[in-house]
Amino acid sequence: MSEFVKVANLSELTPGTRKMVELDEVTVAIFNVNGQVYCIEDICTHDGGPLADGDIDGYSIACPRHGALFDLRDGQVLSMPAVVPVPTYRVKIEGDDIFVESPDDW
Ligand code: FES
Repeated sequence: MSEFVKVANLSELTPGTRKMVELDEVTVAIFNVNGQVYCIEDICTHDGGPLADGDIDGYSIACPRHGALFDLRDGQVLSMPAVVPVPTYRVKIEGDDIFVESPDDW
């Protein structure tokens, strides 16, 4: 059974903003894109660089190192040089609280 961990308040994570959170030694990034919240791991699958500071265009995020593009909604690769999707994690919102699937379930 999945366990969710509170990571932020929706009132803080306004549309267009992001937040990095460390959970059990895994750094994840939470994004609010047009009012929808998504969570990905903060590691590019191309060469292990941090991903979450990359530029966002619509639902895509560009790796700051070599420019691979990933879809924030499902982690799929949109552009080389990465070829492996980035892990994404389920998000649950209850009132003002944002929860992410627990690392124990990852
Ligand atoms: S480390 Fe992300 S594209 Fe190379």
